[in-house]
Amino acid sequence: MKKERKTSVIGLMVQVAVLVAAVVTLLVLFMMFHAYPLTMRVLLAMEWLNLPVFIWIVGSAVAAGVMVGLSYGYGLKKRLTSLIHLINTLKQGRFHEPFPALGNDEIGQIGVYLRQLAVHLKKQVVSLQQLSSEKAEWKNQAKREAIFEERQRLARELHDAVSQQLFALSMMLAAMERNGQLPEKERARISMMKKMALDTQKEMRALLLHLRPVSLEGQTLTEGLEKLFREYSAKRWMDIDWEIDPLPALSKGMEDHLFRIVQEGLSNVLRHAEASKLRVYLKYRDQQLSLRLMDNGKGFDVERMKNTSYGLRSIEERTHEMGGVLKLISLPGKGTQIEIKVPIIEQKGQIES
Ligand SMILES: Nc1ncnc2c1ncn2[C@@H]1O[C@H](COP(=O)(O)OP(=O)(O)O)[C@@H](O)[C@H]1O
Ligand SMILES: [Mg+2]
Repeated sequence: MKKERKTSVIGLMVQVAVLVAAVVTLLVLFMMFHAYPLTMRVLLAMEWLNLPVFIWIVGSAVAAGVMVGLSYGYGLKKRLTSLIHLINTLKQGRFHEPFPALGNDEIGQIGVYLRQLAVHLKKQVVSLQQLSSEKAEWKNQAKREAIFEERQRLARELHDAVSQQLFALSMMLAAMERNGQLPEKERARISMMKKMALDTQKEMRALLLHLRPVSLEGQTLTEGLEKLFREYSAKRWMDIDWEIDPLPALSKGMEDHLFRIVQEGLSNVLRHAEASKLRVYLKYRDQQLSLRLMDNGKGFDVERMKNTSYGLRSIEERTHEMGGVLKLISLPGKGTQIEIKVPIIEQKGQIES
């Protein structure tokens, strides 16, 4: 199909050439008859190089016509071919390819219009791509918001329904435990149930901690931490003392790491430590950030736990990712201390108030 189209220009030219040649021949013959009153018979009888002169005249007119037609057709074909090629490159979105010279006639004019069209198309492609990347961003944002809301909802329900019920249950069990008329064996069972209810409550509080937003969601680290500590103190879930120095501007990633480390540490204190108090220090001195979490709980065997369990390992990994060091000290019966030191390369005038 393509080939057919390509040759048709030449074919047309040949047809036109033959037609023109025929007309020219007739014209020439007509003029000759007028200039030299020859009869047809005489003309047909005239010969040159053993061929009738009439054939020479017709033959050379046709040859000249075809030659002129072909050369003109070839030029036209060449320009049309580059026009087709140009349209094809535009179709494939290659807007940067150089435009061929197409002359000053109508074909050239088509070339000029195509060039304008290419500029237009390029702009549209750019805005289309912008749109699609914006769409992807919206989708991500919507997903993040959906996850955030779902977490909030879960946390609310866990707190409002399950946590309250557990609290009521442990209060009732505590009242039953105080009942002196119950046999000792029953009392022991009730006290075990009470402890289970209390433990489940602790697990729940630690779980609520993990249902909080994964990142600080636009707050600074200080704001995020203070909000967290205030909330847990207000609910009397943990007696927390905290001191936070004014911090230099930290990268988003670093703030998130530190926040998550505190979350994990606090969750461990709630779940495992049986502590009555937690102290948190976040100090900034001599271009070094140090974070310390100290509880007065039951402590544990650090060496045994350090490499096997996920929570402590994630604390260590996050610390290393910030280029910091982690020190974990735990004394059985005395408590646990997590200390993290991170060097901060500070740029002038970036102290956060
Ligand atoms: N502050 C703490 N007080 C007492 N024990 C702790 C404390 N932090 C961690 N542990 C002990 O270390 C173990 C590992 O902790 P972690 O890696 O956070 O895992 P998980 O909390 O999922 O058990 C805990 O199971 C617990 O026995
Ligand atoms: Mg843990």
